Amino acid sequence: MAVTTSSFLTSPSLPSLDTVTDTLVSHYLVTFFVSVAVGYVVYQRVFAPLAGVPGPFWASLGKGWLIVRARKGDLHRELIRLHEVHGALVRVGPKELSIADLDGIKLIYGAGSQFHKSAWYSVLKGHRTFDPFAERDPHIHSAQKKLVIRPYAMETLKDLEPYVDSTVYHFISRMKEKMTLGEVDLGKWFQLFAFDVIGEITFSKRFGFMDAEEDDGSLKSVESTLASASWLGHVPWVFWTHDYLRPWIGNWLGVTNRTGSLMQRALKEVEERKKRGTDRNDFLEKFFRLQREKPDQVTDTAVISMAAANITAGSDTTAISLRSIIYHLLRNPQHLETLRQEIDTARRENRLSDPVTMEEAERMPFLQACIMEGLRIHPSIGGLLPRDVPRSGCVIAGRFIPEGHVVGTSAWVINRNTSIYGHDAAEFNPSRWIKGNKAEMQRYFLTFGGANRMCFGKNIAFMEMTKMVPTFLRHFDVQLTYPERPLKEKNFFFVIQEGLIVNLRERGDEQSNGGAEKEVY
Ligand code: HEM
Repeated sequence: MAVTTSSFLTSPSLPSLDTVTDTLVSHYLVTFFVSVAVGYVVYQRVFAPLAGVPGPFWASLGKGWLIVRARKGDLHRELIRLHEVHGALVRVGPKELSIADLDGIKLIYGAGSQFHKSAWYSVLKGHRTFDPFAERDPHIHSAQKKLVIRPYAMETLKDLEPYVDSTVYHFISRMKEKMTLGEVDLGKWFQLFAFDVIGEITFSKRFGFMDAEEDDGSLKSVESTLASASWLGHVPWVFWTHDYLRPWIGNWLGVTNRTGSLMQRALKEVEERKKRGTDRNDFLEKFFRLQREKPDQVTDTAVISMAAANITAGSDTTAISLRSIIYHLLRNPQHLETLRQEIDTARRENRLSDPVTMEEAERMPFLQACIMEGLRIHPSIGGLLPRDVPRSGCVIAGRFIPEGHVVGTSAWVINRNTSIYGHDAAEFNPSRWIKGNKAEMQRYFLTFGGANRMCFGKNIAFMEMTKMVPTFLRHFDVQLTYPERPLKEKNFFFVIQEGLIVNLRERGDEQSNGGAEKEVY
């Protein structure tokens, strides 16, 4: 029987017209999407301005690689490995480069830099109007910095020294109590100390964490802020969409903690102080003095923001550095011994107070070298310090990078550069700061950032460390309880260590007052 058109169209064994149309549409859709995807890959790999720059394949296609690294907390180690394999430039995003070229680093972080903080910082800033750390606009940043920088200057540091002394002494006396009970989590205690000392110099009030032997959640607040910011910064639109939807969906992102509990704490302290007044010359008093000089510019918001910034920027970072210095000394007994000799000689010659003064510490070259080396080998901040390429573009390592791209360097990469630090750059060797080319090493030293975005609190951090390290080692013999276990570390912008467990034994010290609390105010 002949097959008629109508029987063909209605035959149950053949697809209907709708099905044929659907199949064709889905076929065209699949072809369309595959073509777009292939076109995108070809564009990124062959035609895009950064095409051909080596790096992980997936990094050239999207932000996924950076987000995965940020969530895993191993970006700093991956960057070291990638630069060892690929050299000066590594593509870490479709429009983002990690730089290990020395001239490039001078260009980005050196004096007069035209590279400004990238959109990564916008999630840290959120809606805050006064935030020198996260502010991206160079004019606003420079105006804000001018208003509040004075209290951080070296000359005013002397006023804060007694407050640091009292907290160092409190730490020593707490260690003397704890050591009799067995192993001590020194890493945790450095953390408690670093918070308490910021409380003391900012509000004349230790937070009481060393007494309670735990923090009040501030640590978690700082860390969850950073853990969340470190990946969200790569996709700020997620943050802003969440911000818009927040009234309906609630708060799902830890990054907002920065504007939450820490600001509340700073606000409470500022309000209490206004009522109470003080005869102390701490940070808050210094900020109020600036406010009296320029009441319309140094607003309450500015004072509260700076007090909160001291906590977020100044506590974890200092604790990480203290851990690094002591841990590396313990792992390298020959350097610990040299430092001990310097401390003991100074003590015998009556050149060492208890706690050690800044002036005394400055006359101890090996101590200074150990601190610099601890800061070099484990920079507190392990992120890329990302910066926008300026309007005219730039040339780095012979490659033109146009506006609209982001470049950055992690201190973890540059601080291990063998052409600056020598063949043993990956080792802890404080002597390099005595025998090596110090000026050259300092030129590229990125632990405190660079150019006009250099850390405000560098002098304060040095004051804390140069007091704590020799005072601690003068009072105690220290041993790693588990020398076979390396420290764990996680990079959430701050590279936080875990597992610095030690046993302490009090040293005979005829000049120490035995850890009794020293009255300094
Ligand atoms: C060893 C301890 C410290 C280290 C390693 C450190 C490191 C850094 C780094 C790398 C930056 C630049 C970040 C960037 O470019 O994104 C920075 C900025 C900053 N730090 Fe520190 N910091 C330390 C301690 C402190 C302390 C104690 C304070 C305050 C009391 C502080 C306050 C600040 C502020 C306000 C900024 C923003 C500066 C600006 O952008 O103009 N830091 N710090």
